[in-house]
Amino acid sequence: MNQHAMDQLPMVTEIAYLSENSEILSEYQGFLAIHQIYQAAIKEMRTKLEILNDEFKVCYAHNPIRHLESRLKTPQSILKKLKRYNLPISAQSARDNLTDIAGVRVICHYIDDIYMLADALLRQEDITLIKKKDYIANPKKNGYRSLHLIVKIPVCLSDRVEQVPVEIQIRTVGMDFWACLEHQLSYKQERVLSEEVSIELYECAQTIAELDRRMQNLYKKAMEET
Ligand code: GTP
Ligand code: MG
Repeated sequence: MNQHAMDQLPMVTEIAYLSENSEILSEYQGFLAIHQIYQAAIKEMRTKLEILNDEFKVCYAHNPIRHLESRLKTPQSILKKLKRYNLPISAQSARDNLTDIAGVRVICHYIDDIYMLADALLRQEDITLIKKKDYIANPKKNGYRSLHLIVKIPVCLSDRVEQVPVEIQIRTVGMDFWACLEHQLSYKQERVLSEEVSIELYECAQTIAELDRRMQNLYKKAMEET
């Protein structure tokens, strides 16, 4: 590996990880390319969302977005997922099979903001919808709510344009609060929760959903009064 490639490494801890995993050491350049291209896709997507947010602020005196988060899946986590699905271990396989290497999370104020934003984004000519999962209309059994979109966004490189998949999760502050705590308690920890805890978590999700509906109605009423 040349020094230039070393300098571009995302994180020092990942060097150690990659060198311990000979199966992806040979794929190093490929993973560097993933890092660059998917990071660019995140930048493009964040810009699109920020532009929509600014436009809504000007046109409707209301910001739909409270804040944006984004993350690039680490090589460790890419490898883990490829193994979990028995897929070939290579950078090309990651690009062909995984659609959540680039992730953007949009935290909105109100439920209606979520759909308004998703519709505005999907109307854009350069955005291609790959998959939509509406866990707000159809919450998961544990109570999880969010609107998930997988879209492709063009990234213009020096010699070509790449259509890069980005996973977008759009949710209210309340949905985010619940999902973050539930994630810590169980989701990615692969911890099995007792029935009692699961039931209470589910009830919390219902309470939060009810609050989201009330706040949405309050907003509508307040708007009608002005
Ligand atoms: P992954 O293989 O985990 O990426 O899930 P998937 O391919 O089945 O897709 P899905 O759209 O269901 O979930 C994608 C992402 O949404 C996850 O990686 C989490 O960030 C989030 N998510 C989905 N379900 C839950 C859940 O029950 N709890 C929490 N906290 N987050 C969830
Ligand atoms: Mg995922």
